Amino acid sequence: MLNALNQLPDVQQAVTVLRKGGLVAVPTETVYGLGADARNPEAVARIFSAKGRPADHPLIVHLADASQLSEWARDIPPAAWRLAEAFWPGPLTLVLPRAPGVLDAVTGGLDTVALRVPDHPLALALLAAFAGGVAAPSANRYGRVSPTSAAHVREELGDCVDLVLDGGPCSVGIESTIVDVSSTTVRILRPGAITERAVHRLLGMPLATDSMAGVRCPGRKPSHYAPRARVVLASHAQVEQTVERWLTCGCRVGVLASRRPPTLPENVVWLHLTGDVREQARRLYQRLRDADQLGLQVLVAVLPPDVGLGHALRDRLRRAAGLGDGGAERDLPEIAMGVDA
Ligand code: TXA
Ligand code: MG
Repeated sequence: MLNALNQLPDVQQAVTVLRKGGLVAVPTETVYGLGADARNPEAVARIFSAKGRPADHPLIVHLADASQLSEWARDIPPAAWRLAEAFWPGPLTLVLPRAPGVLDAVTGGLDTVALRVPDHPLALALLAAFAGGVAAPSANRYGRVSPTSAAHVREELGDCVDLVLDGGPCSVGIESTIVDVSSTTVRILRPGAITERAVHRLLGMPLATDSMAGVRCPGRKPSHYAPRARVVLASHAQVEQTVERWLTCGCRVGVLASRRPPTLPENVVWLHLTGDVREQARRLYQRLRDADQLGLQVLVAVLPPDVGLGHALRDRLRRAAGLGDGGAERDLPEIAMGVDA
């Protein structure tokens, strides 16, 4: 286990960077974030230019603990406090009406702000020492796969970041669950490791999951979390047939699945997503990166069952495949012949 005390000099340096308006890559339990002082508009602007992200897309503000909530949000309902108490520190982001003074650059001009207390010793040490909010989107270029190790951040954003705090591989591996508690209907905007069921059980009230009507929410764009390889979804039963069709097009093809299809041709790589669903979540983004490193043009991916964390994995894979909300097997697309160069 990582010992945050061993890294205190790094944390001090990171605080200095943040105070000067610089960018720090911060490990969290979900994915690495690209952090800046959330009260400093120039620093926040640097996040957008480093990522190549459109300026009107809102960021999550990371806090050391829930006691800071009222500095950032107003009209905080009991449901928000209950969620914070139950799941923070942890992979949960709360969307709340924003407090006066929260920068437009952070909220993308919305009247709400997204807030989260991450569960990682280095992130918590940094947030406590900084004693302020750290605005941090995932530390990847806009529209690409989120980083789950310090090496991923260095590869992709190394030149733009002043300091990378190396907290090891992320223990959850996919982005936080986002819950909108800014209106009377509590709504899950992005599935994650805190499941809809867990939120429902805690609050005992009906939830909406129809997500994003009218809200600019880049993580909800179908094209998000995408590797360069084209991701095509298939059931276990369809894998070989799907692979054949893409091989006929002359493509370099790989398969992402929990088990090796029995009759996979030798020139097709099996990127294994084995283990239980937690393990699969931890590995998913590494596997999408592997697909690119292997120069695959097509990645045939099998969706895990739609239970628990499997729901969030399916969401990310569907988006990597350029599909939107939904998830029923019957939605699997007819395979398109013809490939992006
Ligand atoms: O696990 C995570 O949440 C990671 C780590 C670094 O904390 N962060 C992350 O940030 O995934 P990002 O920027 O890649 O995704 C944040 C999502 C986006 O989809 C954004 O639209 C949404 O949060 N969001 C931020 N503020 C919002 C708001 N006020 N209302 C609705 N959605 C919001
Ligand atoms: Mg992101």
